[in-house]
This record gives sequence, C-alpha cells and structure tokens, in this order.
Amino acid sequence: MSLKVALLGAAGGIGQPLGLLLKQNPAITELALFDVVPVVKGVAADISHVNSPAVTTGYTKDDDGLKHALTGAQVVVIPAGVPRKPGMTRDDLFNINAGIVRDLAQAIAEFCPKAFVCVISNPVNSTVPIAAEVFKAAGTFDPKRLFGVTTLDVVRSSTMSAQAIGDPTGAPKYTIPVVGGHSGVTILPLLSQSKPALPESLLGDNEKLKALIHRIQFGGDEVVEAKAGAGSATLSMAYAGYYFVQRLISAAFEGKTGVVEPSYVYTKDEASLASEIGESLDFFSVPVELGPEGVKKLLPVGKLSEYEASLLKAALGELSGSISKGVSFIQTPK
Ligand code: NAI
Repeated sequence: MSLKVALLGAAGGIGQPLGLLLKQNPAITELALFDVVPVVKGVAADISHVNSPAVTTGYTKDDDGLKHALTGAQVVVIPAGVPRKPGMTRDDLFNINAGIVRDLAQAIAEFCPKAFVCVISNPVNSTVPIAAEVFKAAGTFDPKRLFGVTTLDVVRSSTMSAQAIGDPTGAPKYTIPVVGGHSGVTILPLLSQSKPALPESLLGDNEKLKALIHRIQFGGDEVVEAKAGAGSATLSMAYAGYYFVQRLISAAFEGKTGVVEPSYVYTKDEASLASEIGESLDFFSVPVELGPEGVKKLLPVGKLSEYEASLLKAALGELSGSISKGVSFIQTPK
C-alpha cells in the first residue's frame, strides 16, 4: 500500500514535531512537508534520515512547491498559521489564519480533492467552515473528509481529570468525550461520561467540577502564558494531532474497525444531533466513528448532567457566531 501525507505549515512549532511523529508511522510511504519559510527544506532533510519507510521531501512556494506537495496526497494536515500570544483568544487569530486556510484549501481542491483534510489552524471553529466553503465553491466538498482537530482537548481532559482526583499517573486510563468546538466555553468535556467513571468525590463536588472544566476549557492559556509570548501549545498539539491522524489512517487505510475519536465535523443534516442539542448547527464536535470513507457515523452526544447541559447552552451561542464568521469570510465579496 502507498500512502502520501502532506503537512502544511511543517516548519512551525507544531509542524516540526508533528512531521517527526508522522515520519515514524510505518503505514506512510511519502511525507511531503510544505511551508512558506525556506527552512522547511532543512527540516525535511533532517527528518528524512530517520530509517522509516516514508520518503520525505520539503517544499516551499518556489517551483510550484504546494502543487508538488499536494499532488497524490491522501491525507493533508494543516497546522499553518500564526499562534496566540498572551492575552489573545483564538478568535484574535482569525484575520491572518482565515486567509491562510482559504488559500491552502483552494490548492487542496485543485491538486488533491479526494484527500482527508485535518485542520489544526485556529480558530478551528471558523477555519473548518472556511475550508468547507472553499470546497463547496470548487465542487469538491465531501463532509466525510473534513475534520477539525480537537484531540488536544480530549488529551487534556484525561490528563487534568487524573490530576484533579489525585491519580496523575492514571491519565491514560480515562477516556472522556469532548463535544462542541475548540475554543474556551465551546469546549465541553463530558466528565459524567468518562470511562472508567470518575469518582463521586469529583462529580458530586460542584466547586471542584467547575474548576476542572474551566481548566480543560482554558488549558491552552496555561501554555501561552508559560511561553510568555513565544507561542502556544506545540508539543502536546503535535502529539494530539498525530494521535488523531494515526487513528484516521488506521480506520481509513488499514481496515481497523470501531475507531472512535471526537472531531469537529459537518453536522448540518444531522437531525438526531439537532434534537439532542436543541439546535441545528453546521459544525459541531462529536465522537466520530472513522472508516474507509472518513466519517462513518456520528455517535450521539449522550446523556448530559444538569451542569453539562447548562454549559452546552453557552457553547452553542458562541459556536454559531464563529461558524457564520467563517462562512461569510468566503461568501461575502471583499
Ligand atoms: P508557528 O508560527 O510556530 O508555525 C506556523 C507555521 O505555518 C510557520 O512555519 C509558518 O511559516 C507557516 N505558514 C504560515 N503561512 C503559511 C502558508 N500560507 N502555507 C504554509 N505554511 C504557512 O505556529 P504553531 O505554534 O505551529 O501553530 C500553528 C497553528 O496551530 C496556529 O494557528 C495555532 O493557533 C494552532 N493551534 C491549534 C491547536 C488545536 O488544538 N487545534 C493547538 C495549538 C495551536
């Protein structure tokens, strides 16, 4: 089997470690690293020495680099764009990153319209709708193939929950679905659905629960502040991004079944989701069963605790605005 993965924004803080992680996946036979800065060629030369199958090449804008990186790609991962600095929200990144994602999506529609596309660039709540609008205009939109990567919220949920209950080394044990979006209050970790269940000493203590959910929702700020102007989460994001991509690869190309990961996907015609959350949104993060076609099935959000139901209301309000902002960025002539 041959499998080409293209990574756009490959010279960045996320891109470099994510490229390294992708390189060590034995299923990948070709790894195309694209960035607008020339150092990407050095990053590719460096990573290419790892003795795994993926033939690794670096491309910049010169010599039709984007075209060569994308042609034949079956999976495209996008961590291109500027990260946050202290005091900024993900939405503050919109003005720069919206245009970057638009241009990259246009190139994907042209050179690899059937690829699975995983968007990491923030604000994910708006950049995924932007990519969808570009694909719709190009006639290549397949809602089963477009993913907003929210896995870092899932990863943080298990780590931070394990810490909150005084079992920090237990982090890998806890699987916690995260629904909604990928920004502040739109991030809704469903702690009541953790497998295995979290203890009543946490679930029954409103103050502790509130503090933990807030920490998960704003966990990115801890990193932004600690890096003090030098960027946002890169290493944990590379881990989370790689985790999602390898799960997608295993379901889409390696025949693995029962692969479920939360992701921010197209939900416009999902009547059962709309009745669960009480509103019809074009995009929402839900646990997704992955398969050869990409999205095989959206799984229900499931039963929410009273507190989670109140948080859902706040999430819905902010999400619909972020989705409209992305859609009108493409639809409204400048
Ligand atoms: P960075 O600034 O270190 O790297 C971004 C890279 O993108 C740079 O190498 C830059 O040259 C490149 N780039 C800019 N325009 C480009 C274009 N048109 N085509 C290709 N490459 C281009 O930033 P970092 O820390 O890697 O973050 C990247 C993005 O990921 C940011 O938008 C950040 O907010 C987002 N992010 C998303 C997370 C998530 O959970 N989805 C978590 C953390 C960050």
